[in-house]
Amino acid sequence: MTFDRSIKIAPSILSADFANFGREIEAIEDQGCDWVHVDVMDGHFVPNLTFGPQLCKAIRPHIRTVMDVHLMIAPVDPYIEAFADAGADIITAHLEAGRHIHRTLQAIRATGKKAGLALNPGTPVDAVAPLLDLCDLICVMTVNPGFGGQKFIRSQVDQIGRLRALIGDRPIHIEVDGGVDPSTAPLVAQAGADVLVAGSAVFRGGSVNSPQEYGANIANIRGAAEAALKQAA
Ligand code: DX5
Ligand code: ZN
Repeated sequence: MTFDRSIKIAPSILSADFANFGREIEAIEDQGCDWVHVDVMDGHFVPNLTFGPQLCKAIRPHIRTVMDVHLMIAPVDPYIEAFADAGADIITAHLEAGRHIHRTLQAIRATGKKAGLALNPGTPVDAVAPLLDLCDLICVMTVNPGFGGQKFIRSQVDQIGRLRALIGDRPIHIEVDGGVDPSTAPLVAQAGADVLVAGSAVFRGGSVNSPQEYGANIANIRGAAEAALKQAA
């Protein structure tokens, strides 16, 4: 994986057909997505359950781009090895998931994978300052994690801007997750985000039998973000 700040669209397979993950992933990649975002939930850190490392391993051969695994679980540390073995490229843990996030990020890096740090909307972004050198990605949640299709929390846009300033020249991606669609993508792109996760806004209206809808949705989100950046330049 090479680092750059170009806009990347990362569809969340939380909004895909769970009986058809392999074909859904092939469809979104054929239709131009950049990364595949995989939401792991434990019914404890967040009030919903999804899937674990076995599912990640099963879908890995279908992913040609980047497997971006978002862990909404606590504890994290006992499962890092399993998600690394499952083939994740990036493993993201929540700052709020335990007492020793610094150790967690070190443990992720020790597997040879990229380390991501996610922040709930209630967490001030300044909290990442002591952790920057351990992060390859910081994910700003623009909904409270747990479910797809929630409303974008606008006050998080300021937090993205603050984070962008904190990061400076460091090669750290800023990912935004929750409620991203063509109307909110310009706000987060202008504030400094480069990885846009979108679940419902990518999968809406399409299916593996009509994947061109996925392509149109991806292009609309990307187009809105890139147009906003051009305008600001
Ligand atoms: C929320 C997940 C998100 C979610 C995004 O807990 O981390 O990745 O699936 O879904 P949308 O884009 O529908 O808000
Ligand atoms: Zn996510």
